[in-house]
Amino acid sequence: VTQPKLPLLVDTPRAWAELAADNLSVFLADHAVCEQHAALAALSLIARYPQDDELVVRMGALAAEEVSHLRRVTRLLHGRGLSLARRRPNPYAQALRKHIVAEREPELKVDRLLVGALIEARSCERFTCLGQALGPRDPEVAELLHDLGPAERRHWEIFHGLAAREMSAVDLESRWRNWLEWEREVIAPRGTTPTVHG
Ligand SMILES: [Fe+2]
Ligand SMILES: [Fe+2]
Repeated sequence: VTQPKLPLLVDTPRAWAELAADNLSVFLADHAVCEQHAALAALSLIARYPQDDELVVRMGALAAEEVSHLRRVTRLLHGRGLSLARRRPNPYAQALRKHIVAEREPELKVDRLLVGALIEARSCERFTCLGQALGPRDPEVAELLHDLGPAERRHWEIFHGLAAREMSAVDLESRWRNWLEWEREVIAPRGTTPTVHG
């Protein structure tokens, strides 16, 4: 099955996938933290924009889905005698968020949503990349990645779709193109630690 292409400008180097495949317990413990962050980020958008009915409904569903991902990764970790990693800042997400400089709505909301879209798209790309490198080495993790990839793909489209309601298609496109460039800069020096966005 050929998947529709992700919007990202660069692919993760194969070396990262090999590193993560060789350090799956580190990857999984970090992955659980990412799912927590994803659920919390969706809930914080609800808290910021409680009057945006569509956003509240979609982010509520998304948060529930991220919690189900968290539970699945947690089961897998516990089955291997491992625990979740501690909550920690995510340097990738932090570096991206530095580019949110809008001071007014709807630009601020658009930027927050586009950052969400980028993180989901990159996570999807990383899961796919690792899944391919992993091959038959660890069928349980391969199955997890295979199931979560399409979910994260849907998620970036949800974030992008919510942003698209807020401005003209032309304005959104030029803003999105800037964000894609920033994402390229932020991800470029990474790929050296076996975490989801490492
Ligand atoms: Fe997720
Ligand atoms: Fe997600």
